[in-house]
Amino acid sequence: MTARIEISGLTKKYGTNVVVDQLDLEIDAGEFLVLLGPSGCGKTTTLRCLAGLETPEEGSITFDGDPMFDAANRVNVPPNKRSIGMVFQSYALWPNMTVRKNIAYPLRARKMKDALNSGRVEEAAGMVDCGHLLDRYPAQLSGGQQQRIAVARGMAARPDLVLFDEPLSNLDALLRDQVRTEIHRLHSELGFGAVFVTHDHSEAFALGDRLAIMKHGKIEQLATPQDVFDHPVSEYVADFIGMSNRLELHRTGLEWSTAAGTELPLRCETGGHQAIAARLWPDDIVLHRRDEDVSDREIVLEATLLSAEFGGRHYDVVVGAGPEKYRLRASSATHGAWLRSAQSGEPVVISFRSESLKIYPLQELAAAA
Ligand SMILES: Nc1ncnc2c1ncn2[C@@H]1O[C@H](COP(=O)(O)OP(=O)(O)OP(=O)(O)O)[C@@H](O)[C@H]1O
Ligand SMILES: [Mg+2]
Repeated sequence: MTARIEISGLTKKYGTNVVVDQLDLEIDAGEFLVLLGPSGCGKTTTLRCLAGLETPEEGSITFDGDPMFDAANRVNVPPNKRSIGMVFQSYALWPNMTVRKNIAYPLRARKMKDALNSGRVEEAAGMVDCGHLLDRYPAQLSGGQQQRIAVARGMAARPDLVLFDEPLSNLDALLRDQVRTEIHRLHSELGFGAVFVTHDHSEAFALGDRLAIMKHGKIEQLATPQDVFDHPVSEYVADFIGMSNRLELHRTGLEWSTAAGTELPLRCETGGHQAIAARLWPDDIVLHRRDEDVSDREIVLEATLLSAEFGGRHYDVVVGAGPEKYRLRASSATHGAWLRSAQSGEPVVISFRSESLKIYPLQELAAAA
């Protein structure tokens, strides 16, 4: 169980629409790779090509060097002969089969009689705490139980690679955390390789050994969560991982100013550009009351409070400064007392540090759209 997967030059088209575009990707044995990207960028299609459910036009896929697909040599191993398990967003359990039969399905499809007879189904159900549900039908289960069964079914045959297509997005917040933790634990215990698709950057950061951020059927960045967090290679990646604050800045002489004409004393590398987009995490902006002493802060902007939503330990705050809006998090402990009764339109001050900014040439996002 587990193999090194190599995808090389993979291209899948629907008509003239190139959905997976010359994709190269290597997944180490036992690696948990997260595919992250917006709707329509080709994540599901990439998984389906790996599973053998789609036939690509070009490229090759090997498992430990064994060809599963090779367009040039007309190799196309059928899905049930590839050592792959799949877990979908929609659970996709067979409604007319019991839990036991659902979990056993991939073992039967691969004619794994020994595994069937040696209690593998019960073991898989036990791993997701569902051993007591084996004789029920899917309609008699909660959503969280159905998704656990789908996870057990994906792993029952101990495949080399488990493909997860947004398996948590139909679950409510509490269950999502529980099933996510369970998948994480199963991966550490069983050591299978995984490709896990999600839209959600916090899920990607939490689970991935590496993240592959996709754009138009290609991989825009492939790196560890820490590297992606510290060095998003493009504004597209920065935006996608949640650096939601964007400042457009223009150079006039040696100074940089915002669209509203406020000069900012930037002390960071700006790469010789005349116009830049700077990205900033909500956590890196500090909120101040108008009368607070901010003389030790590096970059200070006057702003107006637009909204403040209570989130328990923090408030999610939006402020406006000219045409720009900034999202930030303010601690309830330090800011709760006044934010609770603050009115929209109240003058405030925000501050941040140059080193928190990620700088990109300005045209990039428009060109990508
Ligand atoms: N069977 C199909 N026939 C024609 N076009 C398709 C087919 N399946 C997918 N597409 C198109 O291919 C593109 C990529 O689809 P895919 O399902 O891989 O995206 P995705 O990244 O998984 O998106 P989402 O996050 O919405 O699930 C989309 O433009 C989609 O409309
Ligand atoms: Mg999809």
